[in-house]
Amino acid sequence: MLEELVGESTSVNLNGKVVELPVVTGSEGEKGLDVSQLRKESGYITLDPAYGNTGACESSICFIDGEKGILRYWGIPIEQLAEKSSFIETTYLLLYGKLPSQQELTQLSQRISKNLTIPDLVKKLYSNFSDETHPMALLSAVVSALSGYDKKQSSLEQSEVDIDETSIRLIGQFPAIAAAIYRKKIGKEFIEPDPKATYTENLVRMMFGETDLEKQITPEAIEALDMLLILHADHEQNCSTSAVQLVGSSRTNLYASIAAGIAALWGPWHGGANQDVMVMLQKIKDSGGDVQKYVEIAKDKNSKVRLSGFGHRVYKTFDPRAKVIKSVCDKVLEKMGVNNPLLEIAKELEQTALQDEYFIQRKLYPNVDFYSGIIYKAIGIPTDMFTVMFAMGRLPGWIAHWKEMLTSKPSRIGRPRQIYVGPTKTDYTPVDQRS
Ligand code: ACO
Repeated sequence: MLEELVGESTSVNLNGKVVELPVVTGSEGEKGLDVSQLRKESGYITLDPAYGNTGACESSICFIDGEKGILRYWGIPIEQLAEKSSFIETTYLLLYGKLPSQQELTQLSQRISKNLTIPDLVKKLYSNFSDETHPMALLSAVVSALSGYDKKQSSLEQSEVDIDETSIRLIGQFPAIAAAIYRKKIGKEFIEPDPKATYTENLVRMMFGETDLEKQITPEAIEALDMLLILHADHEQNCSTSAVQLVGSSRTNLYASIAAGIAALWGPWHGGANQDVMVMLQKIKDSGGDVQKYVEIAKDKNSKVRLSGFGHRVYKTFDPRAKVIKSVCDKVLEKMGVNNPLLEIAKELEQTALQDEYFIQRKLYPNVDFYSGIIYKAIGIPTDMFTVMFAMGRLPGWIAHWKEMLTSKPSRIGRPRQIYVGPTKTDYTPVDQRS
């Protein structure tokens, strides 16, 4: 793969030593300098804190053009998938690199359906956690613990078939895990899935059961939830996917690798922003709805407050996912008969920030998390479960990248270097001689 893509090279002069660096060109014309031999040839490493300018791999799964606001899974624009696909079909696309035939789609749905529950012992695990435990902590713990229920996980080198089976099992188990987390929180028993229902219908069923809430959930809401799962399904080398790959590169099993991704996603600067946005909007509402005042606080570096759901490492224009979500938000709320004043505050906040020089200069736009919470809330999903929903959507993307990492050449353990800036050699001083 690498040889095929290398068409040119460039040279750098490092203190008189000229080093040739191959130029790698991607299928969309992106260019990268291959520095993998740089240290061997010159003694230099590259330094790029937070990896803002570092490509960690070549990948065929997801393409983003942050300047133009483009996102595609295996070449297919996210807008088309959001409108025409289902989450299970998109899962097939991410895992196998093509859209499925009808038969392949049916087979995948059946395989996933067979796994739509979790071992009883895992359910018992929940009762040992405090009610205060955040759902993302539970999710990460339970996913990691599931490795103990999959014998194939103990083998060091899994076959492709085994990896596929484990992947499908985990995708099937995820709604059950999420529902069990929610039901533990509200002190209710676990509800078994309906084998005839779709993945997303079962998620709602297992969370809410036959309560009034379930009756209120319209087909449009289920459709919107499925669409949110599609929009979250992949996003190339983000913080959590990189965590999954880095952890997996040490040949940790899939469950533990995904648990690491869940932990990374939880943070408020990543997937946890969807929860934070709702907290922020509520705060603005409770303090009288002064949007401008909040924007001023977010601009003030001393406040340590950021506008949640705004800004992105890659997008320097509108996040295409945010555009799709915003466009369906009104429709879903209307169909569900929900009037959420937070939506009006979100719209005003967006307009205020977009016209503000601070946000214009830094190219800060709404990201996927800005409007997603409004839809989750309308469906009745509690705020602290939002990031769990995000994780469910991201799962096929994490798995696809984990598999790609394991099969890529060279497949080595992930291990960045550093520039050491600590003390030079210093002799040990016994404690009684220290000043
Ligand atoms: N509010 C106010 N200022 C911001 C924001 C924001 N939301 N985002 C970035 N900035 C400012 C920074 O303070 C910095 O200002 P400076 O140049 O004066 O120092 C400048 O914009 C550039 O920010 P960086 O931190 O360099 O941007 P980075 O690419 O590292 O961070 C991130 C991206 C983490 C998403 C950031 O924009 C952020 O914290 N946003 C809010 C949290 C959020 O919505 N996260 C979800 C992202 S989408 C996702 O992960 C699914």
